[in-house]
Amino acid sequence: MSEPELIRDVVRGVPVFPDEMPFFDPGAAPESPIELFFTWLRQAVADDVAAPHAVTLSTVGDDGMPDARVVILKDLTQAGWQVASSSDSPKGRQLRANPAAALTFFWPAVGRQVRIRGAVSIGTTEENDADFQRRHPVARALVLAGGQSEVMDSRRVLDAAVDEQVQRLEAADGIASTTWTVFTVAPDEVEFWQADQQRLHTRLLYTRFGAGWRRELLWP
Ligand SMILES: Cc1cc2nc3c(=O)[nH]c(=O)nc-3n(C[C@H](O)[C@H](O)[C@H](O)COP(=O)(O)O)c2cc1C
Repeated sequence: MSEPELIRDVVRGVPVFPDEMPFFDPGAAPESPIELFFTWLRQAVADDVAAPHAVTLSTVGDDGMPDARVVILKDLTQAGWQVASSSDSPKGRQLRANPAAALTFFWPAVGRQVRIRGAVSIGTTEENDADFQRRHPVARALVLAGGQSEVMDSRRVLDAAVDEQVQRLEAADGIASTTWTVFTVAPDEVEFWQADQQRLHTRLLYTRFGAGWRRELLWP
């Protein structure tokens, strides 16, 4: 019998960063991390980074344990980074009980990571509904069916619940969700991380300072 394959052999030698990466001069960084994020996001889109708007949202549960999952960035305003989910999902409950979160973007094709930490606020009824109405009909039906992350008895139960809600949505315009929520992470700290082939990565940390931001380099 052959030796079982070791994970360390599978991952060893797999490249993490491309040979060519964009140059990042932290000395020329703008005063606001929101402005720099826009620049980096636009560059990620231009450089064909897959799903640059996919972001890991980390929260803390009642038991003090961290939890994390990937969501989609919906918008970025001067108030902060916006993501959306059901308020009765595990993340929604965690954010209601402990309105603080971290967001982590990783853009492999450009060797960049952005980390955001801050307090979380929930959208107004109008903001939540506007985002809900922009969703694909099946995605809306799924939210109306509820139960995200609960144990599911069978796929048939899911299909029946979604069908029922799709029919409701087809029968009437503008049906709203009572749970769909836009969460805004207001940044206290934002870190921009640029990989370097020699591992001398460049890290720039923005920390809120009065009405503005303090900028500091971090040891890689
Ligand atoms: C690329 C990607 C995008 C996702 N976007 C969202 C999203 O915007 N909102 C959401 O509620 N779940 C999204 N999900 C699903 C979540 O990762 C997660 O499975 C779900 O929200 C349940 O999380 P929870 O049990 O921690 O509440 C996405 C998953 C992936 C892989």
